[in-house]
Amino acid sequence: MKEVSCLNFREMVPEDADGVEQVEKACFSIPWSRQSFWEEASNENTLYLLALDGENIIGYAGTWLVAGEAQITNVAISPEYRGQGVATSLMTELVRRVRERGITAMTLEVRPSNAPALALYAKFGMKEVGRRKGYYADNGEDAIIMWNTKLHTDEQ
Ligand SMILES: CC(C)(COP(=O)(O)OP(=O)(O)OC[C@H]1O[C@@H](n2cnc3c(N)ncnc32)[C@H](O)[C@@H]1OP(=O)(O)O)[C@@H](O)C(=O)NCCC(=O)NCCS
Repeated sequence: MKEVSCLNFREMVPEDADGVEQVEKACFSIPWSRQSFWEEASNENTLYLLALDGENIIGYAGTWLVAGEAQITNVAISPEYRGQGVATSLMTELVRRVRERGITAMTLEVRPSNAPALALYAKFGMKEVGRRKGYYADNGEDAIIMWNTKLHTDEQ
C-alpha cells in the first residue's frame, strides 16, 4: 500500500486519458479504453473528477449529467491506494460539485458481490431500488440499481 501524501482533485481533460486508462486497467477486468476517456472528457454533459497524489493520477469518478440527474458511470482507485479514504473524499467532492449544478438525484449500478463499492455508496445515501437480472456479461451477475433522490438536502 502507498500512503497518499498530497491528495487533490481536478476535472479530467482529454490529455489525462492515458493516465486514467492506467488506473482503469488496474481496476477492471473489462477496462474502458483511453479513447473512451478522451471522448468522455470532451463531452460537456459529463463530469469526471480525478484524485491525484501530487500530480499522479490515482483514481477517478465519472458522471453523466442528464435531465437534472447524475448517473455515476464508474469510481476507481488504484489498488495500492485503497483503504485510506480516497474514494470517500473523491465522492464527497463529486457530490459537492454535482449539487452546485442544482442536481438533486444521483443513480448508479453496482455488482452485489462488490462489497467495498456497496459500502462506499451507502455512505452517500445510495439505496437499492431494483435489480437488472444477469446484467453483467462476464459472469451473468445482476446489477443493483441505486438512487439517492435527496442530494439537495442533508437528509441522506
Ligand atoms: C470501491 C473503491 C473505489 C473504494 O475505494 P477506497 O479508496 O478503498 O475506498 P475508501 O477507503 O474511501 O473506503 C470507503 C468504504 O468502503 C468500505 N471498504 C473499503 N475497503 C473495503 C473492503 N476491502 N471490504 C469491504 N468494505 C470496504 C468501507 O466501508 C469504507 O468506509 P469506512 O472506511 O468509512 O468504513 C475501490 O475498492 C475500487 O477502486 N474498486 C475497484 C473498482 C470498483 O469496483 N469500482 C466500483 C464500480 S461500481
